[in-house]
Amino acid sequence: MYRKYLNLKLIKHYNKPIHSLKITADTYRMTTKIEHSYDVLILGSGAAGLSTALHLDPTLKIAVISKGDLSSGSTAWAQGGISAVLDETDSFEQHVADTLSAGAGLGDEQVIEKTVSEGQKVIEWLLSIGVGFTRSKNANSSHDLHLTQEGGHSHRRVVHVADATGNAVQNQLIEQVKAADNIDVLPHYIAVDLITTQKLGLEDNRCLGAYLLNRNSDQIEVFRANNVVLATGGASKVYLYTSNPDGTCGDGIAMAWRAGCRVANMEFMQFHPTCLYHPNAKSYLISEAVRGEGGKIVLADGTEFLHRFDSRGVLAPRDIVARAIDYMMKKHGLDCVYLDISHKSEAFIRKHFPNIYERCLALGYDMSKEPIPVVPAAHYTCGGVMTDSSGRTDLDQLYAVGEVAHTGLHGANRMASNSLLECLAYGRFASQHINLHARHDLPNIDIPAWDESRVADSDEQIVVAHNWDELRRFMWDYVGIVRTTKRMERAKHRIDLLQQEIDEYYSNFRVSRDLIELRNIAVVADLIIRSALSRHESRGLHYTLDFPETLANLDKVNTVLTPPQAKPTKPV
Ligand code: FAD
Ligand code: SIN
Repeated sequence: MYRKYLNLKLIKHYNKPIHSLKITADTYRMTTKIEHSYDVLILGSGAAGLSTALHLDPTLKIAVISKGDLSSGSTAWAQGGISAVLDETDSFEQHVADTLSAGAGLGDEQVIEKTVSEGQKVIEWLLSIGVGFTRSKNANSSHDLHLTQEGGHSHRRVVHVADATGNAVQNQLIEQVKAADNIDVLPHYIAVDLITTQKLGLEDNRCLGAYLLNRNSDQIEVFRANNVVLATGGASKVYLYTSNPDGTCGDGIAMAWRAGCRVANMEFMQFHPTCLYHPNAKSYLISEAVRGEGGKIVLADGTEFLHRFDSRGVLAPRDIVARAIDYMMKKHGLDCVYLDISHKSEAFIRKHFPNIYERCLALGYDMSKEPIPVVPAAHYTCGGVMTDSSGRTDLDQLYAVGEVAHTGLHGANRMASNSLLECLAYGRFASQHINLHARHDLPNIDIPAWDESRVADSDEQIVVAHNWDELRRFMWDYVGIVRTTKRMERAKHRIDLLQQEIDEYYSNFRVSRDLIELRNIAVVADLIIRSALSRHESRGLHYTLDFPETLANLDKVNTVLTPPQAKPTKPV
């Protein structure tokens, strides 16, 4: 019988085997165990999870899990597109150089080269499964794909489906997995924690599967698997204002951390410069491609200001543009700045940005006639679970792919449209590794059922709701676009208290989605704060007034955090 209580205790007494905690089975009400068994368990149904599933050997029995609908992750919300070198005046070397430059001295050149050279294959594969990319006559290439431009890219190299690329990709991927006989697709299951041999008190360490809350039955079920892939996306929900959908709580990062995996570069949270500023426009992003196609960032009186901060102006990388906007807003006490593409014709705007145009119109702004109000918001998690170039983590049989992972591609700042590329490229790399090395030797260990006999239904949901709000607000105020040591120390103090409170709550009450996610964003917030406090310089997305310079001796130095209970099978 696996006890949630023990699960908590194991975090504190990690090296003790379960039996040493001297808790006898008859103390507990036995819970009926529902157990599933798979060759590969994929947690996440975005671009990373689904492409991994589709590249795996069709003889493997696979489960793909999503905490909500299959399209509930960030993938379906992606707007701008996918970067790939497809123009004859462009080159891989230039894409590599731009990615390295955006990454501000922390990008891993080998990883960048491996990923960038996958671009064409990724686009060809998506075309082959029916993604209807936007076309146009293109003088500089043999194909007719329309290429747009975004911040940091020195060439037009972003392949897209108008302004709703992610939705088109997500839909085609879903169609493919649903048609595959070897893949079970299971929406509305939320992973609570990974199951490892170490947590069960056994020697050797490997991942054995995960406990998942079935949101239809409210029961926690055992998913046993020879190989587990984390594809759970990012953690931008840690911040009060974000462009991301609701589920992006860093669950995979927190689960991997609790399972003993190292995480890297969590201080590099990316803020997108342009989210629509409107009380009814929760999280609505205005694609960087609007700037790529001529949009300007201006103050209310029409003054442009970005060239004062970077000679590339609106097409500077995101960290620079977001920081410049934040500076102007704070300096002049502004609620927002404006994005102005009204010098382009309505027909042009409707053709390139049909969804953004309609959404703004519904909220009272006609982009073809007036500037629209925008503010920066948390957008992307550059750090994550450390992996090698096949997506392998520190823990045997556990892979991490997509935004949850830290591969070394983005360094201190991700360049626009490099994320979908990474998800799709690493989906292939990880599946190639699993196809070659899949283990079928899942030990015949009795995985205990989840025990709920010592917990009650919460009568204090207000505590969970309050902690959610408090955490997200202090992360925004104290660990946001511009940081100081004093504010980050304040945040550290708050997160220590909150984590104690959340742990106590978690050990006493039945788990719910809100509680699982709260527990995870607290872990991730703590990792972000600790990483940010440890970097005594400003670089890429991490900017602190106490250490404003970038230090040459910290080039290529990642921030790596190791969990106290870590027992890696083979560090990546
Ligand atoms: P996601 O697509 O976020 O999927 C995560 C999956 O994990 C979901 O299925 C979710 O349900 C599941 N999950 C999470 N936790 C659990 C759990 N505990 N249990 C079970 N399941 C779980 N990038 C680009 O390259 N180009 C763009 O144009 C672009 N535009 C963007 C626009 C917006 C508005 C946003 C928010 C992001 C954009 N990005 C873009 C970033 C990019 O979309 C994401 O980084 C990428 O889609 C992440 O894909 P993923 O597969 O890693 O995760
Ligand atoms: C956008 O369209 O601006 C988002 C692109 C990205 O996050 O890569």
